[in-house]
Amino acid sequence: MHLFYLLSITLIGLVYSWPDPECRLPPLATNYTIQQYAGRWFEVGKIQTPGGAYFEKGCVCTHIDVSPTVQDPTVVNVSNICNKNAPDGPLVVSNQTLTSSMKPANGRYNASFLPGLPSAAYNVIVLRTDDYSVEYDCLREFGITNYCVHILSRKPTLNETIVNNILKLVQELDLNTAKLEYVQTKQQNCSYAR
Ligand SMILES: *[C@@H]1O[C@H](CO)[C@@H](O)[C@H](O)[C@H]1NC(C)=O
Ligand SMILES: *[C@@H]1O[C@H](CO)[C@@H](O)[C@H](O)[C@H]1NC(C)=O
Ligand SMILES: *[C@@H]1O[C@H](CO)[C@@H](O)[C@H](O)[C@H]1NC(C)=O
Ligand SMILES: *[C@@H]1O[C@H](CO)[C@@H](O)[C@H](O)[C@H]1NC(C)=O
Ligand SMILES: *[C@@H]1O[C@H](CO)[C@@H](O)[C@H](O)[C@H]1NC(C)=O
Ligand SMILES: *[C@@H]1O[C@H](CO)[C@@H](O)[C@H](O)[C@H]1NC(C)=O
Repeated sequence: MHLFYLLSITLIGLVYSWPDPECRLPPLATNYTIQQYAGRWFEVGKIQTPGGAYFEKGCVCTHIDVSPTVQDPTVVNVSNICNKNAPDGPLVVSNQTLTSSMKPANGRYNASFLPGLPSAAYNVIVLRTDDYSVEYDCLREFGITNYCVHILSRKPTLNETIVNNILKLVQELDLNTAKLEYVQTKQQNCSYAR
């Protein structure tokens, strides 16, 4: 009986491998400034655990608008915008507030959807101002780690070679601890009404 119990626990542990690995603390984009990160980015693709995918379920034409607050540049509004299921599907907007204890902010933030909710660690790890950027966010609670790597571009598409190099970097930094697949975001026939 005891042996069976131990065996079950071990098997469950192996299947779910709880607790999950800690959130990673990756190096940040060199010379990060919020002015360079501000503006509109299109989501080229992502690697995302189910917890994060829940919010973005069925999203196409996904883009984000990054707006630094004039009074306090360490507080940043991020609007996450997409259409549900189809380019002409209902618009879904969810706003996030980024805060940093560093002045000026260095690319690492606490990201919160609502005051009082636990905040995720938000890291801008690559930033080519006019071209592309990469963001890794992660939240660990009760030994469960949810994370997302977003590949973002100033245009709705991005050179495949660059995407592959970014995916190599993600592997080198060991950000994809659950070995999830990279998923390209659908950016065809989008109107970007907002
Ligand atoms: C970062 O800034 C320093 C000092 O301005 C500069 O020498 C360096 O080339 C910059 N690095 C990158 C990757 O832009
Ligand atoms: C950021 O969001 C806050 C709260 O929603 C709002 O008061 C503020 O005006 C926004 N700032 C910008 C620059 O959008
Ligand atoms: C999200 O932010 C945008 C731009 O700052 C604002 O227009 C919109 O009202 C906000 N939406 C929600 C649901 O807070
Ligand atoms: C995020 O919040 C925690 C807890 O308040 C704080 O210790 C940490 O410095 C913050 N991180 C950043 C990047 O501001
Ligand atoms: C993509 O980028 C690589 C390396 O920067 C370049 O050699 C290649 O020509 C580009 N491909 C396209 C289709 O632009
Ligand atoms: C985009 O629109 C074209 C023409 O209406 C259609 O043939 C194509 O399947 C659409 N692509 C996607 C991904 O919706």
